[in-house]
Amino acid sequence: MDMRKRIGSLAEEMLRGAFPEAQGLPEDMAALLEVPPEESMGDYALPCFKLSKSLRMGPPQIAQKLSQHASHPEIARVECVGGYLNFFFNRENFARELLSAILAAPQKWGSGTEGAGKTVCLDYSSINIAKRFHIGHLSTTVIGNSLKRIYDFLGWKTVSINHLGDWGTQFGKMICAYKRWGDRETVEKYGVDEMTRLYVRFHEEAEKDPALEDEGRAWFKKIEEGDEEALAIFQWFKDVTLKDAMKVYDLMDVHFDSYAGESFFYDKTGRVVDELKEKGLLEESDGAMIVNLEKYDMPPCLILKSDGATLYTTRDLAAVFYRKDTYHFDKCLYVVAYQQDLHFRQLFKVVELMGYEWARDALIHVAFGMVSYEGQAMATRKGHVVYLEELLTRAQEKALEIIKEKSPNLENKEEAARQVGIGAVIYATLQNNRIKDIDFWWDRALNFDGETGPYVQYTHARCASVLRKAPEKLPEPDYAALTDDEAQALLRLLSRFPESVQDACLRNEPSIVTRAVTDIAKAYNKYYYEHRILDDDPAAASARLALTRACKAVIKTGLYLIGVSAPERM
Ligand code: ARG
Repeated sequence: MDMRKRIGSLAEEMLRGAFPEAQGLPEDMAALLEVPPEESMGDYALPCFKLSKSLRMGPPQIAQKLSQHASHPEIARVECVGGYLNFFFNRENFARELLSAILAAPQKWGSGTEGAGKTVCLDYSSINIAKRFHIGHLSTTVIGNSLKRIYDFLGWKTVSINHLGDWGTQFGKMICAYKRWGDRETVEKYGVDEMTRLYVRFHEEAEKDPALEDEGRAWFKKIEEGDEEALAIFQWFKDVTLKDAMKVYDLMDVHFDSYAGESFFYDKTGRVVDELKEKGLLEESDGAMIVNLEKYDMPPCLILKSDGATLYTTRDLAAVFYRKDTYHFDKCLYVVAYQQDLHFRQLFKVVELMGYEWARDALIHVAFGMVSYEGQAMATRKGHVVYLEELLTRAQEKALEIIKEKSPNLENKEEAARQVGIGAVIYATLQNNRIKDIDFWWDRALNFDGETGPYVQYTHARCASVLRKAPEKLPEPDYAALTDDEAQALLRLLSRFPESVQDACLRNEPSIVTRAVTDIAKAYNKYYYEHRILDDDPAAASARLALTRACKAVIKTGLYLIGVSAPERM
């Protein structure tokens, strides 16, 4: 039940009634409708100045004339204010229709089919091999995961890709160091930390003995040439890194369809380079091969180094075409920090210059801001890196402390602490517009009363608890019990939830869903404090329980879409 659409067609009817001769009116009246800034101004408003030109009449006069044609059971009344025509729903009717629509398929409210037949590739998390999974990769992981869920919910086919950073001369050096000073047990035991130690040692020793550099290069060449030993060690390093990362992905319920990263594309760059050459786009510059982008106000895009080696961009180019050929995407999103803005602008421009028109709309850099940690840049807290696994463990410990204090009788506190702790971190990451920098503070993220993950989760648990207390047999709801301001405010938010999901998808902006679900939670709590839900009158109670059930379902969906779980008790 889409109220905007309904009021839109009602407005159209009114227009035709009031101005039977009118020409050149807007096609989509629903899109014209605005949500008034204040509830006292109605549920939707029609800005009549947008009709003024075609009707050759002042906006207030249009509103006045239209208002005389507004008789409809869905509308309680209309009001003309300035050039606006404000629509007020028939409250009882609105409550009945909306709750019936939501409760017919509660988990589906807000879902859609606009993506049917379309495919979106989402490149996110995309961690680097032999590096610990640190806080710098939190946003991309969480935003990407949320977008995947949102696109899925709207009917798209989604392909989630972890474009691993697993190519570069550093891996030759690491193998060299491992062969000289490392052993299997230590790497198995300390994982990525040991790889980092080996890498640091390599550089220390290479200062004294420059010949080591050649040895490192030689090992990388072996990887390139497919030498069995080199590949085996390299693959093992990858496995060890991924095993660590997998712990984090499991905790956050994040999944990928593909882990094809840079090394996968290394031997697929030739085709692209040939095509660039054929199309006359490749130029030589100081021995390197570039695409000149001066005309587009960008520095040249480096394709091959003077020694013929490929670059990050070259491998990304190969990846674009591989993805297009393999998945036939309609959109391909890159959830990567804004620091890589130039890289992606160059990449997309080169694809476009190769004659692929689709590059202009289909390739999208979903950029986001920096994360800092309690006022300090996240990656270098006191000179140390903040690792994601540690952050998530800490989050769970802190959540457990709070839960023990708040709900001493709760069963399975550990599970609740997992959901609340991880949820708090994810929510804090998706709370604001993604391009904004984030400063993460524990007491803010875990505050049960503020705008936080735990607050929204707590509201969900509150709904669940109300519903557990409900009598088993309920009469038909009396929707007249839901005509008060608090119930109507909540209903309005529930009815607009689908628009928020669509908007979030259109703008690749999960924070729109975070905002929507938070507003719903706040409105429910306001309602809860002002009204007795299990009223003496069973038909009124039945209506309030229906509202609670709908609210619980929509909160659960909203949390799911941002990647946060919804506990039944906490
Ligand atoms: N591994 C890169 C990094 O950590 C991100 C890769 C993003 N994806 C891509 N196709 N370039 O910075």
